[in-house]
Amino acid sequence: NFKINGKDYLIPMVLEEPSVVAAASFVAKLSRNGGGFTATASPPIMIGQIQFVGIKDVDAAIAKVEHEKQALITHANEHDPAVLVRYGGGLRDMELRKLETTRGDMLIVHLLVDCRDAMGANAVNTLAEALAPKIETITQGEARLKIISNLAVHRTATAQAVWKKEGLAASVKDRSMTGEQIVERILDAYAFAEADPYRASTHNKGVMNGIDAVVLATGNDFRAMEAGAHTYATRNGGYKPLTKYSKNANGDLVGELEIPVAVGTIGGSIRTHPTANIALKILGVKTSQELGMVLASVGLAQNFAAMRALATEGIQRGHMKLHAANIAVQAGAQGEEIQVIVDKMIADKTIKVSQAQDLLKELREKN
Ligand code: MEV
Repeated sequence: NFKINGKDYLIPMVLEEPSVVAAASFVAKLSRNGGGFTATASPPIMIGQIQFVGIKDVDAAIAKVEHEKQALITHANEHDPAVLVRYGGGLRDMELRKLETTRGDMLIVHLLVDCRDAMGANAVNTLAEALAPKIETITQGEARLKIISNLAVHRTATAQAVWKKEGLAASVKDRSMTGEQIVERILDAYAFAEADPYRASTHNKGVMNGIDAVVLATGNDFRAMEAGAHTYATRNGGYKPLTKYSKNANGDLVGELEIPVAVGTIGGSIRTHPTANIALKILGVKTSQELGMVLASVGLAQNFAAMRALATEGIQRGHMKLHAANIAVQAGAQGEEIQVIVDKMIADKTIKVSQAQDLLKELREKN
């Protein structure tokens, strides 16, 4: 049901929690009357870190590297050890940081690497290892760690959606609840997450429910996404929700998400793993940036789905329906039998395999 920047998407998801898929589909449908999701993506720039120790005067070393910076960048791109330049990527810039640590001052060099459609971990690590000896010569320091940073602050995507208050009112079972009330309840839920890391953690888990499922389906590294997302949530001090909610002039609810998106559409096992390949075909994204925009939209949808349910009827009603369907299948129900048994178990408020087996026996004897 997803519409993102005016384009329809069928989004493959891989995860063990069926309610996540149901919630994403429900919210994507609900979002269509507000125009769907609007998403953006930054250029696909990853950070590679090189740690230098044993430098007496780190400030002086920074000045020396700064002086050689352009030459280093040109050298790296001419030699293209990570095979990025020929695809339109390459080393774009370098940031030099003095880091005070318990083991003394260190020089930390950040390589800002445009990875185009690759996630880029291999490329960035290759480039960091290739450049480290040159920077050792300039600084007289010793290069130690040479590795990608998962805090991909330069490779981000945003998504935004507006949920009309009338649509919100129509989306809940309780007909006495107005759209205005639902907007206020969701804003209260958001304020809770903003003020409390215990809640923010669960709030962001809901965001990642959707994102990880798509990251996994497309053969990407969901641990990299998780690491980046949760660290990004602390960027303004304290652990905060990744999404933002507000009310527009019309009284409708506006939701926004900004998140690092360290994912690719080529490289790694993405193109060799047949299922990932098929998932990418179904999704129909052309670039890693487009995949990033899909991820941000799914994350926002997923979080909004949880907020809407939690702030109104709670999540268990929807969850129990899906749980009951699982139990009915475990008991051996097939086809139309499943719904009959689910309805009966929910009406009886007993969701157990033994109960489902009894109901199935009864149903089959009757027919
Ligand atoms: C469950 O997988 C995710 C939620 O807990 C997220 C949330 O509380 O916002 C429902």
